[in-house]
Amino acid sequence: MQWESIATGCRDDYEIHIDAARTIKRPRNIGLSSDLLAQGRWLRTLWRCWPDGVAQHFPKVHRLPTRSDNSLVLETVTGKNARLEILNGRLSAFETVAPAIRFALAVLPKLESSNETEPARRWYSDRFMTRLKVAEALGVASPYVFKAETVELAGSQVRNWLFAQGEDLLGVIANLHVPRVGLLHGDLHLGNILIGGGNDEFHFVDPRGGFGNSLLGDVAYDVAKLLHEPHYVAVRSGLVRCRTKFKAGTWSLTPAGRHLRSVAYFRLAIFAIKSAAIACQLLSDDADLAARATFVAGLHFLALTDSRFLSGGQRMAFLYHGLLWTLLGERLLSRQADFAECMDTWQRLLLTERPTEPAHRGQALECRT
Ligand SMILES: Nc1ncnc2c1ncn2[C@@H]1O[C@H](COP(=O)(O)OP(=O)(O)O)[C@@H](O)[C@H]1O
Ligand SMILES: [Mg+2]
Repeated sequence: MQWESIATGCRDDYEIHIDAARTIKRPRNIGLSSDLLAQGRWLRTLWRCWPDGVAQHFPKVHRLPTRSDNSLVLETVTGKNARLEILNGRLSAFETVAPAIRFALAVLPKLESSNETEPARRWYSDRFMTRLKVAEALGVASPYVFKAETVELAGSQVRNWLFAQGEDLLGVIANLHVPRVGLLHGDLHLGNILIGGGNDEFHFVDPRGGFGNSLLGDVAYDVAKLLHEPHYVAVRSGLVRCRTKFKAGTWSLTPAGRHLRSVAYFRLAIFAIKSAAIACQLLSDDADLAARATFVAGLHFLALTDSRFLSGGQRMAFLYHGLLWTLLGERLLSRQADFAECMDTWQRLLLTERPTEPAHRGQALECRT
């Protein structure tokens, strides 16, 4: 398998030119990309508030996009794409990426933080709703996403909580407890981490730029990015497909995958579990971080519903993972599961072919992928 094409993100709405000195990101369509502007502002803010004595380098911003020239010009930093390194087994030492994860989750959020968490929670539902509405307007979501009351996920029937514009799911988001918000990278997947020459050298690229009007967000957002990495890559690379059917009021999603036979997939899966575990240890005062991150990983998948550049089958596979991760995440949240239980769920979701909920924990849910 050639992994290069999915080494980075999956945006095709701007092009990127990288030379030894400069990296230029330019929207494909005329107009100003608010994402690029936000990204440049995030980097500039970081440069302004960077404390003396904390050694970490972020790309310098040479030019922010303007109306007359909508490209973002950044310093080129050196390093190898961590996703590609892990997929290809070149990065055998987990320890090489771990410091980057530790830095992103333990140092960044402390640079600036706040107990004003209501906007962060509202942001989850606003963003989620916006993406769903875009998907609907584009006609790229399955017509049953919001209309089927029951969904069958790999053989188990559950109530579809996207029914009626995601009413039930929005209810869960409204009850999420986010203890604090902090400065985040905001798109902490392995494709956005470059690993340099020395063992402790790393760079981040492609920061999210903000959560609404704020640069501060729920740290579970980035932990969830780490957790969603293996299934994301499995779907993007065609290792997981999903068949859907609508019959007698039930919308069924049946995934089929070759990913569990892929050594590269297992590298990612083990890395995801380990790095999410590190995050939870570092932030152990946030009691339901692991459960919240499981749920938010599902939101990440659901938010991919509006991606025009994915095939229909890929979008359905993301919907499947979105429903599954949010569902299991909500179960963990509602019974205040401890870290060990969350870890058990991650392992079943990511590493085994037929993870089932133990009988005493309610309805069995197979999630063969
Ligand atoms: N400043 C930079 N210096 C060096 N390489 C970069 C820089 N910015 C991006 N890249 C490389 O280009 C890839 C894609 O850029 P990125 O900003 O992540 O955009 P995308 O939204 O397409 O993921 C990154 O994974 C990284 O390998
Ligand atoms: Mg990227």
